[in-house]
Amino acid sequence: MSKKIIIDTDPGIDDAMAILFAFASPEIEVMGLTTIYGNVHTALATQNALRLAEFAGRPQTPVAHGADKPLVIPFDEAPEIVHGADGLGNTHQPPPHGRPIERSAAQFLVETIMAHPGEITLVPVGPLTNLAVALKLEPRIAQHVAEVVVMGGAATVNGNVNPAAEANIWHDPHAADKVFTAGWPVTLVGLDVTMATQMDNAYLAGLRASRTGEFIFQISRFYQQFHKLAHGIDACHTHDPSAIAYVIDPSLFTTERGPIRVVTEGIAMGQTLMDRRREWLTPNAWSDMPEVNVCVEVDSARLLALYQQRISAAG
Ligand code: RIB
Ligand code: CA
Repeated sequence: MSKKIIIDTDPGIDDAMAILFAFASPEIEVMGLTTIYGNVHTALATQNALRLAEFAGRPQTPVAHGADKPLVIPFDEAPEIVHGADGLGNTHQPPPHGRPIERSAAQFLVETIMAHPGEITLVPVGPLTNLAVALKLEPRIAQHVAEVVVMGGAATVNGNVNPAAEANIWHDPHAADKVFTAGWPVTLVGLDVTMATQMDNAYLAGLRASRTGEFIFQISRFYQQFHKLAHGIDACHTHDPSAIAYVIDPSLFTTERGPIRVVTEGIAMGQTLMDRRREWLTPNAWSDMPEVNVCVEVDSARLLALYQQRISAAG
């Protein structure tokens, strides 16, 4: 039986790569896309989500517009240097035909989870504001969701915004802390594994045989230039597609369990700090907090083969 998922997303080049991967995978039924600021402002994220659903031949997929700003801190500017001004590597895609649904992202998350108790997997691959707002609207979603697979954070390695913080968590640390402590089953697919899997230029060129792969190759050009500039590599990190890969096949990953709190102020704001000590003598802010399932290793070769196979089969 396929898994019903909702992708909460800020498309974004790697978001687009993840969404097309999900649409191309028979193990997954995409119930909707909810949008969030991050790589672009939310209005453009919504347009891009509609465009991607239409490109994939799934124009009926509900797209729900999400929060425009974080819970507490401001959202200043979208990182055009990473994803381009259009969020899709300045490839300037045509406008979508469809429109977002009338309900907000948080309302859509609540309604869909409560209508399918125990069946919905949330896959947030952007800042976690919509999930925090949904938890506030209807706390019972924590008992009714199947799983929450988060692309974000860094439990055993440095961040990518600064040594402490990964971008999705850094944008809304207050929301992230609520998501990691809500008591629902959370898996973290963070930089620990997403930077370990790299799509090099030969791999990306090899995707071009299909229409979907050609699109991915085109949008990846800008992303690759950013990786060259920022990381000195002729490849792209595999952030958001890794969360979809986990949903399809968790055996690609090795995991560790532990409570995670998020630093919400100061120079380490956005750090996802996991208690890995296994010492419980002194009560602290991690005591009695739910454990998060954290991906710490990945079989990159197998993940890349899976992605390649799905994108070529997508046509
Ligand atoms: O740090 C990687 C994350 O930040 C990904 O979700 C990418 O799309 C960017 O938003
Ligand atoms: Ca993203």
